[in-house]
Amino acid sequence: MERPAPVPSDRAETLAAHAGDDPFRFLGAAAPPIFETSTFVFRTVADALAAFADEQEHYVYTRRRNPTVRVVEEKLAALEGAAECRLFASGMAAISAAILSCVGAGDHVVCVDTAYGPARAFITGYLSRFGISATLVDGCDPAEWEAAVRPNTRLFYLESPSSGLMKLQDLAAVTALARRHGIATICDNSYATMLLQRPLELGVDLVVYSCSKYFGGHSDVLAGAVLGPAERIRRIGDAEQPLLGGVVGPFEAWLIGRGLRTLPLRLRQHQQSAGRVAEFLAGHPRVARVHYPGHPSHPQHGLALRQMRGASGLLSFELDTGDLKQVSRFVDALRLFRLGVSWGGYESLVWLPVIGAMHRAPEEQWPNPGLVRIHVGLEDVDDLLEDLDRALRAL
Ligand SMILES: Cc1ncc(COP(=O)(O)O)c(C=O)c1O
Repeated sequence: MERPAPVPSDRAETLAAHAGDDPFRFLGAAAPPIFETSTFVFRTVADALAAFADEQEHYVYTRRRNPTVRVVEEKLAALEGAAECRLFASGMAAISAAILSCVGAGDHVVCVDTAYGPARAFITGYLSRFGISATLVDGCDPAEWEAAVRPNTRLFYLESPSSGLMKLQDLAAVTALARRHGIATICDNSYATMLLQRPLELGVDLVVYSCSKYFGGHSDVLAGAVLGPAERIRRIGDAEQPLLGGVVGPFEAWLIGRGLRTLPLRLRQHQQSAGRVAEFLAGHPRVARVHYPGHPSHPQHGLALRQMRGASGLLSFELDTGDLKQVSRFVDALRLFRLGVSWGGYESLVWLPVIGAMHRAPEEQWPNPGLVRIHVGLEDVDDLLEDLDRALRAL
C-alpha cells in the first residue's frame, strides 16, 4: 500500500477529514475499503521473505497490520501530532499494552487514584502477581508524585481530567519531575481528546485512549489507541500488540475512522451544551456542587484554562441529598438522559457511580449516592435543560 499523500494543513478539521485517507491508495475509493481479511498472500517466496523482514511495514497477517486499521492509525497520529499510533480492541487493551511496555518484575508504579477503575485494578491488583507494586496518589499536587517515587519506580500513570470527579493533574509539572527521575509517563486523554488537550506537547511519553468514547462517537464500537514516539510505539508493535493480541478488527477500525471525521464538529457541540448544562446545575437549589473543569466553580479551573483548550461533554454533580431512594426518583424521572455507563456518544446518558461500587467495594468506600454523572449529548440543549429541570422537581 502506498503511503498517503500529506495533508496540506495541520488544522484539526482538515486532518480529521483527510489524514490517512488518500483515496488514490485504494483505486480512488472516497471512503476507505474495509479489508476484512485475516491473512495476505504472496506471489513469490522472495516477496514473502521481504515482507517477513519487517512485519510492521508489510501486510502479512491482520494481528500485525491491516490496511483499514493503518488508515485510522495514521489519521489519529496526524491529529495527535504523534509520530506513531497503534489501535487495539478496546481502551483497556490499549492501556494494559502501554503499561506492560513500561514495566517489568520488581518495578513500582505511581497511579492517580481517580484513574478509570479497571486501569487502576490492572495496576494495583493484576500487576502485583508479577511482583510489581503500586502507590495511588490523589495527584492534584505534583509534590505527591515526587513523594511517592522509589528507587524502582518506572511509571507514572495519569488520567486528566478523570472521568468521575473530573480531577486534573498538572501534566507539564508531573512529566518534568518524571523525566528528572527517568520515569516513563502514560496519560489517558479520553476525556479531552487531542482536540482539547495535547499531552505529548506537555511532556507525556505515551497517550492512551478509549476510542469507544468520542472517537467512535455513536456508542456502537469498542476500540483503543496508544500514541507516542516512533521507537516506543514500534516496540509495542513488536511485543504487546502481537503477543497479547488485543488488536482491533478492520470493521471496528473503519467505524472509528468514520467517527473521527466529525469529531471536531461533535466535540464543539458537546462542549457548548455541557457548558450550558453546568451553568444551569450550578445555579439550581437542589444541586450542592458541580464537577466540570470548564466551569469557574471547579477547584482546578485555572489549571484547566492553562493546559486544556476546553472541556468536553462529561460532567458530574452532587445533589443536596445522598438518599438513594430520592436520587433514584430524580434519575428515573429523566426522559432524554438514559441510564447507562460510558459516554462520548451522540446521546445523553446519566449514571450513578454508587451503582457499580455497591457490588465491588465495602460500604465505607462507596461514593456519595447523590453523585450523578451525566454525558451531555448532541440533542437540543434546551430539551436537555427541560429534562433535568423536570427531573429535579421530582426529587
Ligand atoms: C477514562 C476511560 N479510560 C478507559 C476506558 C476503557 O475503555 P474501553 O471501554 O474502550 O476498554 C474507559 C471506559 O469507560 C474510560 O472511561
